[in-house]
Amino acid sequence: MPKRDKNFMERFEHGLNTSDLEKSKITAKVLGYGEISTIFQIGADDRWAYKRMPLFNSIKGAQEYAAIYRQYCKHLASAGLNIPEDELQFVSQPGRPIVLYIIQRQFPAEWFAHKLIHEIPDLNRAVLFNRVVSEACQVWTYNSEMGPAVEIALDGQLSNWVFENGDIENGKIYYIDTSTPLFRLDGVEQLNPELILQSAPSFLRWIIRRLFLKDVMERYYDQQQVFTDLAANLHKEQRPDLIAVVIEAINIHIKSEIAQITEKDIDKYYREDKLIWTLFLNFRRLDRWIKTSIFHKRYEFILPGKIKR
Ligand SMILES: Nc1ncnc2c1ncn2[C@@H]1O[C@H](COP(=O)(O)OP(=O)(O)OP(=O)(O)O)[C@@H](O)[C@H]1O
Ligand SMILES: [Mg+2]
Repeated sequence: MPKRDKNFMERFEHGLNTSDLEKSKITAKVLGYGEISTIFQIGADDRWAYKRMPLFNSIKGAQEYAAIYRQYCKHLASAGLNIPEDELQFVSQPGRPIVLYIIQRQFPAEWFAHKLIHEIPDLNRAVLFNRVVSEACQVWTYNSEMGPAVEIALDGQLSNWVFENGDIENGKIYYIDTSTPLFRLDGVEQLNPELILQSAPSFLRWIIRRLFLKDVMERYYDQQQVFTDLAANLHKEQRPDLIAVVIEAINIHIKSEIAQITEKDIDKYYREDKLIWTLFLNFRRLDRWIKTSIFHKRYEFILPGKIKR
């Protein structure tokens, strides 16, 4: 990967208008919205995707995250997953949080699994789901091989998987969602949970910390929950008709000692998940309004518009 000029990221961040992107000094296009990151293309250069994370109070905190991030990617690769080429850069400006950019090879939108499912014939969908599920399963094979020393988590949603050249049968599969590096060493979580809370409105952090945080962090370690989440997401992708196909792929692959997944599990999970994320996004919008309209302060995060779920 070419070494990027540090000044470039500084100029970009400095000129970024978080409440009205079009007013930014250097033009940027949003490729995707994360819970804790926003993913940009900067200018016309479509070789790279920039994941912006305005999460850190100190350089030390950002460096700690970077070290954890690197270790997580290494474990994913050791488990057999393909991780895109990347580079990390920090931008620090007085009076603002330190922003970390994960700069990753950019892939065309139409290579992503959540886009491909809309375009391809039925037969290929079964192939797509089978390949994604089998790719993801490497994580649990790795976890059982490593014993209690290392345990890595994964977010299996379709929007995290890329088929090179959009080739479902033979294309190399990449896992791109590396920005929440959850893994445990000897049972101890390595990522500071407070980082996940940074994107939440401050008036809600205490309740999230108390009620949801543990659950959210744990679900990505659990094979059954990860696959339930993957299948339930087909509702969000407006393709509930494909849930049966994905369940079939999942149930072939999951470890024999865990229960098979049913459509009923998926529906129940989806109803709860939708409620939580919709509420969360609305509270973030309220927080943005309070900060910008009442206190005339800058709101660091960039929020999506209406999401169809
Ligand atoms: N390297 C990339 N190339 C092109 N588009 C990307 C790339 N990385 C992310 N995107 C787009 O942004 C979306 C969200 O990215 P990603 O999965 O990394 O974030 P996320 O799931 O929201 O993660 P988090 O919650 O950890 O911030 C992707 O589904 C994709 O549409
Ligand atoms: Mg993702």
